[in-house]
Amino acid sequence: RAAGHEVADLTGKHVLISAGGTREHLDPVRFLGNSSSGKQGYALARIAAARGAKVTLVAANSELPDPAGVQVVPVVSAQDLYDEITGRAADADAIVMAAAVADFRPADVVEHKIKKTADGAVPAVNLVQNPDILHTISHDRARPDQVIVGFAAETGDTDHTILELGRAKLERKGCDLLVVNDVSGGKVFGSDLNEAVILDRSGSALPVPSGSKDALAGVIWNLVATHWS
Ligand code: CTP
Ligand code: CA
Repeated sequence: RAAGHEVADLTGKHVLISAGGTREHLDPVRFLGNSSSGKQGYALARIAAARGAKVTLVAANSELPDPAGVQVVPVVSAQDLYDEITGRAADADAIVMAAAVADFRPADVVEHKIKKTADGAVPAVNLVQNPDILHTISHDRARPDQVIVGFAAETGDTDHTILELGRAKLERKGCDLLVVNDVSGGKVFGSDLNEAVILDRSGSALPVPSGSKDALAGVIWNLVATHWS
């Protein structure tokens, strides 16, 4: 049941999902953003609803249509997303952080459009760090039986493999499952296909071969359901 459409096995569960990419405004018309399409988070919402869950999707700047039967809560910035996710966490049996959250935001948001000056001076952009939503909800659990899932897009570096970085990230964040994507060479972003390794807190690693985002969503919900039972 890889795509998971057949069974209503998530009936009675409330799942909270974030999707898309946050925007951190510099002025009313300009922002620091990222190119997350939101497709994986929307697939998670669609599949969970199809399997009988009550679904709340906190969506950051995605152009995708609202999935049928899903409550969609639009947000713009990482702080908005933090407020919506932490405010709704106590009501959720599972939380999946599929959104690409900006690590930093401009220290000051200017009320009016930033203008060029006659002397050609270039403005500096000072950044401050955004709150870490996944870390917060994992370390301050609203419920003991809640299952929390993170995503990590990694490229590996000279000292560590992608899986080593993923394992360290799972420990640091304190979540139950971490879906690790290899994004070296521009893979995944905006694609309809996804390939991942899902790390479990207990130490296991489940490779998910390249397939649709719906198929990966189905595998993620299967693992979440295993944690509940
Ligand atoms: N995340 C979050 N809040 C943030 C940043 C990230 O909740 N401020 C979540 C993402 O939604 C994702 C997971 O944390 O599920 C991992 O995101 P990632 O950017 O890989 O983690 P970081 O801790 O920001 O690490 P890095 O320095 O590698 O960006
Ligand atoms: Ca980050």
